[in-house]
Amino acid sequence: MDALGLLSGARVVVTGGAGNVGSHVVDAALAAGAREVIAVDALVRGVPENLDHALATGRARLVEIDIRDREAVMATLRGCDVLFHQAALRWTRCQEAPRECQEVMVEGTFNVLEAAAEANVRRVVMASSAVVYGEPVHLPLDEDHPLSGTTVYGAAKVANEQMGRAIAKLRDLPVVSLRYFNVYGPRMDVRSRFVEVMVRWLNAIDEGKPLTLFGDGSASADFVYVDDVARANVLACDAAATDAIVNVCSGVETRMRDLAALLLELTGSDVGVRYEPQPPPSLPQRRYGDPRRAADVLGFRAETELREGVRRLIQWRRQALATADALQT
Ligand SMILES: NC(=O)c1ccc[n+]([C@@H]2O[C@H](COP(=O)([O-])OP(=O)(O)OC[C@H]3O[C@@H](n4cnc5c(N)ncnc54)[C@H](O)[C@@H]3O)[C@@H](O)[C@H]2O)c1
Repeated sequence: MDALGLLSGARVVVTGGAGNVGSHVVDAALAAGAREVIAVDALVRGVPENLDHALATGRARLVEIDIRDREAVMATLRGCDVLFHQAALRWTRCQEAPRECQEVMVEGTFNVLEAAAEANVRRVVMASSAVVYGEPVHLPLDEDHPLSGTTVYGAAKVANEQMGRAIAKLRDLPVVSLRYFNVYGPRMDVRSRFVEVMVRWLNAIDEGKPLTLFGDGSASADFVYVDDVARANVLACDAAATDAIVNVCSGVETRMRDLAALLLELTGSDVGVRYEPQPPPSLPQRRYGDPRRAADVLGFRAETELREGVRRLIQWRRQALATADALQT
């Protein structure tokens, strides 16, 4: 079977398909020859515009349902060949509303897995997160690192991974969980109350305000470009592994002060940075992943350099905000 084998001619469901990663997975599945791609989304964070390109192909559609609705999920997955499960709440929302997190992320994911098994899909690819690792005991974070995260969101992702493995064994259903690190790129959420650091800083630059760094700015993250993440999902479809948990990361540690400098350089801004005392951190201060298992199991390697990815994000965000302004006037 070639690299695009399973998706070619397939009927595909992408939960969270109107979201950032999900909409790119929709595009990637279409590019890989899927016959039909159904984006399932409750539109709590994703937006239909993210699917403009996909819908224009005539092979994709958006089905507005909530994954907590067991019957609707079951009906949508009937006859489906491949499932990409991306729907989730943001980690901050899970901290605010743990029960909602349990209902959406844990029970909703169970609904999706159960429906996939009933539909006899040929492969499930699920989004997990590097948040499951918690405070690093060693770096880079490999997949055998202890799972010692203490967020509600992270606990739900661990539960999802374990249920994925259990269903894989029980129903002989290939399931691959991908632990994404910090995903960035076009279609990032630029509208919500909580936005990721890159968007927050681009907003600050637009407002002429300095970028806030905490402590000495040495906190770090592993940024992985959204198209690379979508490609990892496609590769996971045709991987020989039938029960695998794999990091999706760049393997590069980026310090926050270096990210701030890059944003200032690429936007040509002179707002500068402002250092503030480090508040008690809710997420680990250093993080970068070990990409070797992804290379071995999926044949995946992140290809987009941070500088190029951020350049594309800036360009997309400018256009997206200009379009939104034009629509309002
Ligand atoms: N963005 C990152 O840095 C990152 C890192 C690690 C893991 N992840 C995981 O990757 C996946 C995709 O994340 P993203 O960044 O694209 O987020 P996103 O918020 O853009 O996409 C998630 C989508 O799920 C939808 N959704 C939420 N609740 C739903 C429900 N009850 N029923 C149906 N749809 C629902 C939202 O409307 C949204 O469109 C998620 O599972 C997330 O936890 C993301």
